Amino acid sequence: MTDQAPIKAAAALDPSLSLFQLLEPAIHADPFPFYKRLREEAPVAWDPFMHTWVVTRYEDVHFVLKEFSADRTPDVAKMEALGLPSLGPVADVMAKQMLFLDAPAHTRLRKLCMSAFTPRRVEAMEGKIHEIAHQLIDDHIGNGQMELIADFAEPFPAIVTAGLLGVPLDDHRQLKAWSATFAEMLGNFQHNPDRIRDVLKCVADMTGYFRDAVREQERNPHDGLIRSLMDAEVDGQRLSEDEVIANTIVTMVGGQETTTNLMGNGLLTLIRQPDKLAQLRDNPEIIASAVEELLRFETPSQHTARICPADTMMGGQLIRKGEAVMAVMAAGNRDPERFADPDTLDLTRTDNRHLAFGWAAHFCFGAALARMEARIAFPALVGRLQNLSVTSDILEWRTNSGLRGLTALPIAFRAGERAA
Ligand code: HEM
Repeated sequence: MTDQAPIKAAAALDPSLSLFQLLEPAIHADPFPFYKRLREEAPVAWDPFMHTWVVTRYEDVHFVLKEFSADRTPDVAKMEALGLPSLGPVADVMAKQMLFLDAPAHTRLRKLCMSAFTPRRVEAMEGKIHEIAHQLIDDHIGNGQMELIADFAEPFPAIVTAGLLGVPLDDHRQLKAWSATFAEMLGNFQHNPDRIRDVLKCVADMTGYFRDAVREQERNPHDGLIRSLMDAEVDGQRLSEDEVIANTIVTMVGGQETTTNLMGNGLLTLIRQPDKLAQLRDNPEIIASAVEELLRFETPSQHTARICPADTMMGGQLIRKGEAVMAVMAAGNRDPERFADPDTLDLTRTDNRHLAFGWAAHFCFGAALARMEARIAFPALVGRLQNLSVTSDILEWRTNSGLRGLTALPIAFRAGERAA
């Protein structure tokens, strides 16, 4: 936590430093100069436009993730105060998800869920993940071109997620559609009232689908995370059916949008730096550090929200108990106080404890799986697709400021061999 003299009066934030700037397409396309300004000019800033504090230095982001409260789901009363009473059913599901709870409720849920999502379960998926990645590439390699997001970055984690949960793989398109709709509420500043009906329907449909999956498991038990969550027992505690469903939903969403962004933004970064792409293609043994660096450099989940648990001095500013704080992991990950040459992509970087998976109690539940997917997908893509280029001059980014990713990435290539 930085604790120097006040840098700026809390109320006087230059509007060009408001996090709302991320809604500007040009800034969203390359937010890192904007984050640099925030780190240097207003590292702990009261953003009157967002009505939240914004922290951008590594040390402060780390402190907030470690110490502040994640219990930020508006309850039904708050939803009413926000003029969104109809979103009550959504709040109901979110209130049972580990992402939005503090200890001891979070500790209990997380322990139970971790006992179901073991390292062995992830290891057992390795062969299948290879097959999925190469099959998706096989489907397009003969054409010399593909649209990376629709043809690979979306279906890849969607199919892996269906396999993880133990639902029919053919349902992956439906899982993807639900995940995309639910993610509109996560990391997004502009909540579009016209979409409320769709979000409500999505939550009702997902809940119904996973309740049916639980019933199916009771009739016909088979392997998958849903079954393991149903069976999980720690210190005599078990998950209720609603908790199984709510945490299946957060796992399903958490596992898709982020991984899609890592694939899309990561490949774009490599194509834009052909020497780095060649370095990875020629030295596949550097893949583990390369994935960590792509996570740091592009940070698929750019920021997350917390609530200040007690009056706290940070960066010379007093944050009051109960005030909202945005921790911008993507800015902390480019902090020169923490990372040497932070704007340089160094695929062999060693000192790289980035914030892309969060930190402490809420550290990404699926990090081991995400790492495995990326360690398989990037070598498969850069190894088999040679002379890679982007075929569109204009790239469009999704409007979600937190889950930053491309809507499409058209690429052309020459078909390469599949390594043995
Ligand atoms: C590149 C891929 C991924 C990235 C960048 C990512 C990022 C994150 C981050 C930043 C958090 C912490 C959020 C916070 O503290 O507010 C988180 C938590 C979480 N992630 Fe991931 N994630 C990824 C993949 C996955 C996968 C594959 C799964 C599931 C299979 C998953 C499931 C979750 C869940 C359930 C949480 C909540 C954990 C808790 O609150 O205790 N994520 N993730």
